[in-house]
Amino acid sequence: MNLKDMYINYFVSKGHKQIPSAPVVPENDASVLFNTAGMQPLIPYLMGKEHPYGKRLVDYQKCVRTNDLDSVGDETHHTFFEMLGNWSLGDYFKEESIAFSFEFLTSVLNIPVERLAVTVYMGDDKIPRDDVSANFWKSHGISEDRIAYLGAEDNFWIAGESGPCGGDTEIFYFRSDDEIPTKFDPKDSRWVEIWNNVFMEYYKDENGEVSELPKKNVDTGMGVERTAAILEGVNDNYLSSVWVDVIRKIEQISGLKYEENKKSMRIVADHMRTAVFILADKAGVKPSNTDRGYILRRLIRRAIRHTRYLNINVNSNWEEVLALLIIDKYSKYYSELSENKNVILDELKKEKEKFNRTLEKGLRVFEKETNGLSEISGELAFKLYDTFGFPIELTQEEASNKGLNVDIKGFEEKFKAHQELSRTASKGMFKGGLAGDSKKETRYHTATHLLNAALKIVIGPSSHQMGSNINDERMRFDFTCDHKLTEEEKQRAEDLVNEWIQAGLDVTVEEMSKEEAVKLGAEAMFIERYPDIVTVYSVGNVSKEICMGPHVKNSKEIGKFKIVKEEASSAGVRRIKAIIED
Ligand code: ALA
Repeated sequence: MNLKDMYINYFVSKGHKQIPSAPVVPENDASVLFNTAGMQPLIPYLMGKEHPYGKRLVDYQKCVRTNDLDSVGDETHHTFFEMLGNWSLGDYFKEESIAFSFEFLTSVLNIPVERLAVTVYMGDDKIPRDDVSANFWKSHGISEDRIAYLGAEDNFWIAGESGPCGGDTEIFYFRSDDEIPTKFDPKDSRWVEIWNNVFMEYYKDENGEVSELPKKNVDTGMGVERTAAILEGVNDNYLSSVWVDVIRKIEQISGLKYEENKKSMRIVADHMRTAVFILADKAGVKPSNTDRGYILRRLIRRAIRHTRYLNINVNSNWEEVLALLIIDKYSKYYSELSENKNVILDELKKEKEKFNRTLEKGLRVFEKETNGLSEISGELAFKLYDTFGFPIELTQEEASNKGLNVDIKGFEEKFKAHQELSRTASKGMFKGGLAGDSKKETRYHTATHLLNAALKIVIGPSSHQMGSNINDERMRFDFTCDHKLTEEEKQRAEDLVNEWIQAGLDVTVEEMSKEEAVKLGAEAMFIERYPDIVTVYSVGNVSKEICMGPHVKNSKEIGKFKIVKEEASSAGVRRIKAIIED
């Protein structure tokens, strides 16, 4: 029996009801692009709503995380993974949760207790150290030496910035043939985390205020890929039963050996599996240049680039062969894969053909322009990016294949200089979704930032911009929201924007790394689409967004803001049309 079945059976035997995996594209929570954890579809229930299946739930959930795209290619990172989870919605708490985890690991999976260690929350000035959990672990035979007390960064769990949350206890496994040290050191990478039990008893609001939830819940998560590799005794996830047949198929198609081509084979395997799951989802995401469609496109295109490195015939049906294998492998658990087989195969083929054409053209230019060079200058890298649409990572990959260096610093400087130029000259080369740049459009553009900020107050922090379109007569703004706005909500949003306009807030711009911008809490419609160095526009203290501008200098220049219409745009997405009057 495989891990998924063992897990479900165990928790069902302990009174849990199995719930089906939710789609990868969230159904009722459009604030995230994809489900990134098993608990995400359960947020309303963790907040206190009654679940139709009761208080004890178990599932395996499809998750997609694309924030770490560049790490894919090593032994352990994946863009798609399955998370096993069991939940108590106001039923059992720490003691039983720990007892279940311990029994499942040691009696069902037969993991020797010597290979296990745990971390527990050391507490802070408001929340006490979790000695309760530590004592339960000890009562099961986990010695004090194998318990590490860590702070909020490691042992307090929340999905994003606000929502249900709580201290957690994480279970580690010693994955190495070395002698097992008596004392557990969570920084020693031979100890790998396999399971996270979160005791969700708090709610953190958007101002960082923490209050108690109506019920104390348990939310756990265990990654199938990692745990399967551990149980099978392999250090490389791609050699576990989850992946190995896909890797073997890629070896067969390419005629190359995995041992010598690990990175590209892992990327092809990983990205194709994620693409198949996204395409199978009932949300109907297709490759495109926005949001989820863009992620899908990027995954497929990156896989295609790596099939080239593997000398796979670009015009063969390699994508079909791999997709069919993945569909076949997972259909028992996810019937949507076989149900949507034709769509999956069709879309993959179309995207492959489209990208092959673009790539051919770009690569010809690359060859010509780099011939005889020993290094690719920042200028050339920028030209390839700007004129031929070569993302810098593609230039780097192509360059490293030819044994060439790329002057990345030079590229970033060019990039920055160009941004500066385009901003002052308002040429619009880099504008994020803006069609034109008349004075009036600039005013509308700043107004969209204010409306975005207002909606986050009126609807809540989960409201997220999904798109905007501006001309010099009106603005359109799409955002996530699960209901039609009431008259009061519309009025409040409009009033807030007008208050901020009246307040005469200065608009300031800074350049910084994308990481820094995210740290500062800058809004970004779609973070992965931005270059490494970004411009961040702030309107007073009201709004901070990654954006290419242009903007007015002071909010007063906007004029009077008026919402003229609010309507549905697509599932979970609403659209506001607004005008500004002089
Ligand atoms: N929600 C917790 C996690 O994703 C269990 O780690």
